[in-house]
Formats: sequence, structure tokens, C-alpha cells
Amino acid sequence: MNKPMLFYTAQRWNRLNKFLHQKQYSSIILLYDTKLSKQAVKFITRELKPDVIIPFHASEESKSLAGVQNILSAVALSGADRQTVFVNAGGGSLCDAGAFSASVFKRGVDFINIPTTLMAQCDAAIGGKTSLNHVGIKNIIGTIHFPAAVLIDPMFLKTLDSRNLISGFAEIIKTAIIADKVLFRMLLNQEVRQHSDFSKLAVRSAKNKMKITASDPYDRNIRKALNFGHTIGHAIESFTMHENDKWFHGEAVAFGMICESFIAFQKKLMTIKELNSVTDLILQYFRLPAIPEHAFDQLFYFMSFDKKNKSGNIHFSLPDGIGACKINQTATHDQIVSALQYSNFVFQHNN
Ligand SMILES: NC(=O)c1ccc[n+]([C@@H]2O[C@H](COP(=O)([O-])OP(=O)(O)OC[C@H]3O[C@@H](n4cnc5c(N)ncnc54)[C@H](O)[C@@H]3O)[C@@H](O)[C@H]2O)c1
Repeated sequence: MNKPMLFYTAQRWNRLNKFLHQKQYSSIILLYDTKLSKQAVKFITRELKPDVIIPFHASEESKSLAGVQNILSAVALSGADRQTVFVNAGGGSLCDAGAFSASVFKRGVDFINIPTTLMAQCDAAIGGKTSLNHVGIKNIIGTIHFPAAVLIDPMFLKTLDSRNLISGFAEIIKTAIIADKVLFRMLLNQEVRQHSDFSKLAVRSAKNKMKITASDPYDRNIRKALNFGHTIGHAIESFTMHENDKWFHGEAVAFGMICESFIAFQKKLMTIKELNSVTDLILQYFRLPAIPEHAFDQLFYFMSFDKKNKSGNIHFSLPDGIGACKINQTATHDQIVSALQYSNFVFQHNN
């Protein structure tokens, strides 16, 4: 089951309820992000009537073995069995921790994601990758376990602050660059500011991701394209994870996408015009600090843990023009340093 049911139209909650009824689950466990508004939690509870409710303080710190241990203890003590279904209502961190827990509880039970951030709606809740942070390294532990269903409701975005909203937008830009030329042109020509528009775009990106994921569920081939911007992005996240001014996932990916587009330009996969259009689009939404050059070695250290790497070489997924992507691409040390310097330069001159 690698293509989940996607409920996103006006009848979404009725359709999810019907789905739950058909599946005849023995019990429903609701795991919810404590940052959700009381009304949102009340609404979900009224709609789904869960048997067990587990609040979770979602963050990069609790997206970890310790966080999962808390979830699994509560689930185990609730008397859940193999026909239990988890419902994960929260952002990307909660969806990752909840999906990981569902993948290992009694060797795997069904789960449903109700993503409540833009990041989770357009990306994190969709593809069945579950990831945990460990020993200061981003997403180094994980499983692949596909959601039975995903429900996308724009109402959740109303309580999301603008920094988190824009962070999620990075993944929509990413999908446009690697797989949706029409969307890329639309984004370049029209600034998005309305919640309802963000959510519509999230559904479009989610569908793009589902298509790619269905053709390569276990990440052996074309699915790696979805990792564009993440080789450098994850390194930045690991580097800043324990600092007060840590970067959000989408911010690190936005910086990473500019760097990796510059690498694509150096490798003649992108023209200067295409590089400039990617840079302009990202600068339209993101104001980010430069990364001090003395930190570059640390970034290389974290890049060395990237899951795409092979035989000690750092591998990138790079745009091939706009709307396509080439996977398993290497770059020289100098090309990567120039890319970091380029990204620093454009952000410094845009702040
Ligand atoms: N598994 C995947 O395929 C995948 C893909 C992309 C990203 N991710 C992961 O997702 C995480 C980032 O996700 P994120 O940006 O959603 O971060 P997040 O889950 O940390 O949420 C950001 C903040 O928003 C809060 N929040 C959640 N819903 C809210 C709402 N409706 N209103 C107000 N506040 C709300 C959260 O408590 C948190 O403080 C990263 O860990 C990243 O690695 C995973």
C-alpha cells in the first residue's frame, strides 16, 4: 500500500470516517501536537472519536528515540493491538515520530496522517518515510511505512505563524523545480500570501510527490529527486540543531536549493537564466543569514552522513533545467564551496 488515500475536498472528514469504518480498526489512537489550538483538537476528537488520546510536544528534539519511547509506552499501556490505527495530527516532526512509532509497534500497524503545517501537508505527511534525529544528526534513523490515508484541511494553517508557513513553502518550490515547470512559472509570476492558496499548492505538491513515490517507493531511483536541496539543507539543520537560532527545515532547504542549483549551473545542467530564476523565486520568500566560512568544514562533516552517498562520495539530486532532475550527481570540494559562497552572497545582498 504505497499510495495512500488522499482526502482534501469539502467532504474530507466524512470520507475519512467512512474509510475508518470500512477498515474496521479495533481502536483509534490520536497523537496530536500540543501547539494545535484547543478548537482544532476538539474538532478532530469530535470527528474521529478516538479511543486513546496522546498529546505530544513536537520538535526536532522530540523527533527522536526518546520521543518515540514516550509514544510507544502510552500506546502499549492502552492495550492497543495489531488492528489499531494511529492518527497523527501535527506538523512534520509529529508525523515523522508518529509514523515511526506505528511502523515498529507490533511490527507495524496502520496510520493516518492529518498534517497541520504547510511543510507536512505538501511533503512530510505523504511519502511513507519516517525519520528520527539521533546523536545530533538529522534524520539518521528511520523506516519506510506508508500511511493508509492522509487528510489535508486548510483550516489548520490559520494558526500557523508566518515563519513556519514560509518554511513549508520551500518544499512546494522544490517540487516545482524538479517536477512541475508550469507550477514554477506560476510561482515566479504571482506572489502567494493567502492561506487557502498555500493549501491548494500543498495539495498539488502532495500529488506530485505521491506520483514520484508510487513509481519508486523504496527510494532507489527517481524518488531521490525529492532530495534536491537537502544534501546541504540537512547539513545546515544538523549544524544549527542545538543552537538558539536554529534554522527551520524549509529555511535550510531553501538555502540548500540555491547552493545545489549553483552546482547544477557549474555542471552545465542549468543555464544562468534558470539559476537566476530559481534564486529570484527563493529570495522572494526567504531572508536568511550567511553561513560563516569557518563553518564550511562542519557542513562537509554533516554532508558525509547523507543517505544518498556512495563509496565515500557526496551525492546530490540536481535540477536538470526547470521541471526535471538528475540523481546520483557528484561535485568537487571546490564546486561545493563556491556554491555555499554563492548562496551566502545572494542572501547577504538581499537582506
Ligand atoms: N518524512 C518526510 O518525508 C519529511 C519530508 C519533509 C520534512 N520532514 C520533516 O518535517 C519536519 C519539519 O516539519 P514542520 O515544518 O511541519 O515542523 P514541525 O513539525 O516542527 O512544526 C513546526 C511548529 O509548528 C507547530 N505546529 C504544528 N501545527 C500547527 C498549527 N496548525 N498551528 C500552530 N502551530 C503548529 C509545531 O508544534 C512546531 O512548533 C522536519 O523534521 C523534517 O525533517 C519529513
